[in-house]
Formats: sequence, structure tokens, C-alpha cells
Amino acid sequence: MSNPRVAVVAGDGVGQEVIPAGMRVLSAVTSLDFVELPWGSEYYERTGTMMPADALDILGDVDAIYLGAVGWPTVPDHVSLWGLLLPIRKAFEQYVNLRPVRLLPGVRGPLAGRGPDDVDMLFIRENTEGEYSGTGGRVHTGTPLEVAVEVSVFTRAAVERVARFAFERARERSGSLISVTKSNASRFTYVLWDEVVAETAADFPDVTVQRVHVDAMAARMVLRPDSVDVVVASNLFADILTDLGAALQGGLGLAASANLNPERRHPSMFEPVHGSAPDIAGMRRANPLGAILAGALMLAHLGQTEAASRVEAAVAHVAKAGETLTGDLGGTASTLEVTDAVIAALPPA
Ligand code: IPM
Ligand code: MN
Repeated sequence: MSNPRVAVVAGDGVGQEVIPAGMRVLSAVTSLDFVELPWGSEYYERTGTMMPADALDILGDVDAIYLGAVGWPTVPDHVSLWGLLLPIRKAFEQYVNLRPVRLLPGVRGPLAGRGPDDVDMLFIRENTEGEYSGTGGRVHTGTPLEVAVEVSVFTRAAVERVARFAFERARERSGSLISVTKSNASRFTYVLWDEVVAETAADFPDVTVQRVHVDAMAARMVLRPDSVDVVVASNLFADILTDLGAALQGGLGLAASANLNPERRHPSMFEPVHGSAPDIAGMRRANPLGAILAGALMLAHLGQTEAASRVEAAVAHVAKAGETLTGDLGGTASTLEVTDAVIAALPPA
């Protein structure tokens, strides 16, 4: 059987450091054919676009996409993100952004008295529309009358498909699902969201679903993290809550995510949650664990579940040992040293 083909877009800043680290770990457990693509903000400075015109055709041909980070101070963020990351999520119908939030043994989370048993959540983020619809405009630009409108778009079909995915994951785990909403202040979009989630619930009588407003959800994640298991939320709400989640699991450096097209009509994309981190880029001290864990999510998606488990076990081992960690986790190790430690900790196949 031929190796899976993986497009690699290391992208900007520390993406250039953590993605090669992840590739080394993945290569230690399996064989992948990497197709490295030099896209991102530097590419933009040379060519005027973040990726070439046929980028989606190139990516459409691979089995998965491994992405580092997009965004650099020389390019306005809305230009870089709408030139690379967001079009891929939308064009490839990666409508689920799966973000596990797990406090690993040995990692000190920020919540007093809380440990790994309390922080084990699975966020399912709608990834194609909502507040990220890209619909809107500006009128009277540059004048005192200037107005900007950005329209949240919620479609029944998109809410239903992400809700369905979330109910399925809840069924596999504790049987409880939290649907994040704001249908007290919003009169239309989150009212539809609630209705569609409730209708979908009828197909999952074995799952209990709780509706929680996003403001209360933020407090609950901090005060009662143990009461949170599987969560489904809109694009923006889950964007914000998963940064909080990343903090609860010990920092953004550890957080991984999978942009999934569950039907596999298009490739899915795997990335650390953190960004390009210009403040530490090029210093060889970025935490590679988030990117490595994103790589494990990719292996699982490619059907290589045993290899994925080995990578996760090695990361857990390094976290627990606590000897080889980057600065964000209280250590002094370099990206390279942490990567070497993960490779050395891989359990035998
Ligand atoms: C994320 C990021 C992106 C998002 C940004 C960079 C557009 O914050 O993946 O969470 O908001 O989706
Ligand atoms: Mn984010």
C-alpha cells in the first residue's frame, strides 16, 4: 500500500519550528509522503498572495494537511487568515474543528486543586460559518459616517451536521453534551441553533444535552471543569472557549486541533491551536507538543490509530517526567530537545 500523502504548510513564525518537529515524530512511527508547500506571509511578500491560485487543487489531492501557523506582523491579519487558513476550512467543508482539552498528568494547570481527572473535555467547534461567514462590508469608508457590518450566518444544515457529530462523540464518551448558545440576547441565530440542536437530540435519546449560555460556560469551565465533557459551539464562541480550554490544560503550547471533513470528501487539516508567536519565533524554544499532538490526531484520522496512541503516550510521558519542557511549561529545553525526548519516549510498536 502506498504511503498517505500529507501536505505540509508550516506557515509563519514558530510554525516553521514546530511543524518540522512534528514531522520528525511522525516519521519515527510511520511512513508518510510529505509535500512541503512554502505558503504564508513570506510567500505573500514575494507574490502578493498567501498561496498560489491553484492551491486548493493542490491540497485537494492529498490525504491530509499539516498546518503550522498563519499570521505575521507584516501582513494584516484579516488578509493573511482570509488568504490561507479560513478558505481551506470552508472550501474543504472542514465543518468540525475538534479540540481536545486535557490536562496531562504532571502538567500544572492554573486551577487550584484541579487535576487531570477534572479537566478532560472535547470541544466541537462549528468551523465554516457563524460569525466567520465573511459576509458584510463597509460603507462611507474613511468618513465620519463610516459603518461596518459583519453578518453572522447560521444555516440549518451546518448547525445540524456539527450537532450530529457532537452527539456521536458524546455517545462514545460520557453520554452528556453541552450546547453553547446565547439565545437570550440573540433573537435569530442562536434561537435557530437551539432549535436544531433540540431536533437533532431526538435521534440520540441516550445522550443528555444541556443548553448553556456562553458567558455562563466561561465561568463553568473555570469553576466546575469536571462537569464539562463534550461541548458543541459556534465558530466564534468555541474559538474563545478553546483558548480558555488551552489555558486550563496548561497553555496554548499543548493544544491541538483537527479541522475535519467527516465525510472525507475533502482532506482534513491538523494544526496546533497556537499562532505564529512572533515574540519567540526563531529562538528555537517554541513548545512543539501542540503540533506533535495535532500530528497524532492526523494519524488517527488516517486510520493509524496505534501509531497515534504511541505518539500521545510519548507526549504524556515527557509531560509527566517534567524534565524536558519548554519555557511555557516551566522548563528550559529547546524545541529540538523536547522533540528528541518525545521520540525517545515512544513506546515500542
Ligand atoms: C484558531 C485561530 C483562528 C480562528 C484565527 C487565526 C483566524 O484563532 O484557529 O483558533 O479564529 O479560527
Ligand atoms: Mn483561536
